[in-house]
Amino acid sequence: MFFIMQKQQILQTADGSQTLFSQEHNETYHSSSGALKEAFSKFCEPCKISELAQRGAINILDIGFGLGYNLLAALHMVKAANSFCTIEITSLEKEILSPQTLNSITVPQKYSIDYEIIKKAANALSCNEKGVKISILKGDARKTIRELTNRYDAVFFDPFSVKKNPEMWSVDFFREIGKRMTDEAILATYSASTPIRCGLIEAGFRIGPAPGDGMKKEGTLASKKGDVGGFSNKIMLRLKNSPERMPFYDPELNFSRHEIFNYRKELLQKESSYTQKN
Ligand SMILES: C[S@@+](CC[C@H](N)C(=O)[O-])C[C@H]1O[C@@H](n2cnc3c(N)ncnc32)[C@H](O)[C@@H]1O
Repeated sequence: MFFIMQKQQILQTADGSQTLFSQEHNETYHSSSGALKEAFSKFCEPCKISELAQRGAINILDIGFGLGYNLLAALHMVKAANSFCTIEITSLEKEILSPQTLNSITVPQKYSIDYEIIKKAANALSCNEKGVKISILKGDARKTIRELTNRYDAVFFDPFSVKKNPEMWSVDFFREIGKRMTDEAILATYSASTPIRCGLIEAGFRIGPAPGDGMKKEGTLASKKGDVGGFSNKIMLRLKNSPERMPFYDPELNFSRHEIFNYRKELLQKESSYTQKN
């Protein structure tokens, strides 16, 4: 099995939890305002994990496993809400961190037992114990998503930023995710960018704001039929008329990063020449 073995720089975030810096993406895995805090406030709370736990069984799709913090927060919240709830999690991750790297991360004592389960899953790509079943599909999520036959109650959508990781933010990939969500399921992401919000709408989602925290502004929630709060007409109109509204496309889900940016540029040029002619 291949792991990312290069030496990772551990960084401290504002809530005392640690994160890493990705050399490849030239970006940190989490917000400097608090890595673990973000897992709760940007992903688990907006996806209503505590509420879902009351049903007794919960199915989560986690896109971008990273350090496993979103899963750690989810396990903690589910157990606190209903200790009898069973949890099934599928994570899609391209580059699984090595056991050495994950072992060098320390989490607060109250999370350490659950973090051991998560590290075990990262090491073996699966784990099934104490009502928690985790499966990690290693590879490009644009491909591995096709293997999923489950329907998910919540989606943690947490790739790197669109500038560094555009292949994860296309309308076409959002559609693939939507097909695997229950009607009421909520997808949560930290991004509030206009092309991303417009891309989610084009992929058939209703969208709404996710709470912001610290230095990061609000994120976005998306659902096929669930309650995501919604935006005011004024904000929706601003999105519709924004010069930034063109989403990212990846029709066959195999474009390189460069191709994704170029394709969008071509579409923008076509749109502007059409507007000038009419
Ligand atoms: C911001 S980090 C995720 C942090 C993580 N959610 C956590 O709780 O620690 C983004 C993750 O997305 C993964 N990723 C980037 N592109 C991917 C792709 N095409 N397919 C699958 N995973 C990808 C990266 O390897 C990285 O682990």
